[in-house]
Amino acid sequence: MINIYDLKSKIDFDNLPKHIAIIMDGNGRWAEKRSLPRNFGHQEGMERVIEIVESASQIGIKYLTLYAFSTENWKRPITEIEGLMKILVLYIRRELDRLHKNNIKLNILGDINKLPEAPRKEVIRAIEKTEHNIKMVLNIALNYGGRDEIIYGIKKYLKDVEVGKITYDDLNADNFSNYLYTKGQPDPDLVIRPSGELRLSNFLLYQIAYSEFYFSNILWPDFKENYLYEAIIDYQNRNRRFGGI
Ligand code: FPP
Repeated sequence: MINIYDLKSKIDFDNLPKHIAIIMDGNGRWAEKRSLPRNFGHQEGMERVIEIVESASQIGIKYLTLYAFSTENWKRPITEIEGLMKILVLYIRRELDRLHKNNIKLNILGDINKLPEAPRKEVIRAIEKTEHNIKMVLNIALNYGGRDEIIYGIKKYLKDVEVGKITYDDLNADNFSNYLYTKGQPDPDLVIRPSGELRLSNFLLYQIAYSEFYFSNILWPDFKENYLYEAIIDYQNRNRRFGGI
């Protein structure tokens, strides 16, 4: 196996994706393969979140988006939902000081008002503490759905029309981005989905128009930093044309 330093040396640091988005998938299967409850997979998934955030910011990625909980995930058994919420609280309690020290700004994509009180409070504390940080933006998609986000954006836009901030004719594909949770951020250059599934699962539907996709069979709890570097190297060998020639 190629060692991590050789792998890292293959990365072209002048051509890094500015924004990487990851659908963290396969936690349940990772646990089931070990005859463990599914929440053990989520817990191990949290360890990868910690590692990948650190690696991404250290190599110079400016925006990292992690899909942690979708609007559809509320359909899961209550024990799993509660487990995931506890892991989120644990993550913030364990990592907030380090995120702040590393100059990382935490941002949430999704409606956090619907979260239970404990995770909501932790999330707000983390957003407030890190709001002026500039090295990397860490977006955690929580209670997030791509279709919901577009509807949310349309409603915000209509309110702006109502109060005369923008006219009906002013709206275009670029400025509509400012009505989304990712306001002010570049679209993802690279979307990574581990675990072998080949679908988007309602993730960043508006923002991924020209993203490159990288699918891997590795389950998220096994997705160590080397797989992130492999995805980036693969991305750097693509020829992005954005509809041109
Ligand atoms: C999908 O795997 C994963 C999730 C629904 C949760 C992702 C959450 C974490 C990685 C926990 C830590 C997150 C943060 C931000 C601290 P799945 O359960 O659908 O896996 P399966 O397809 O194998 O069943």
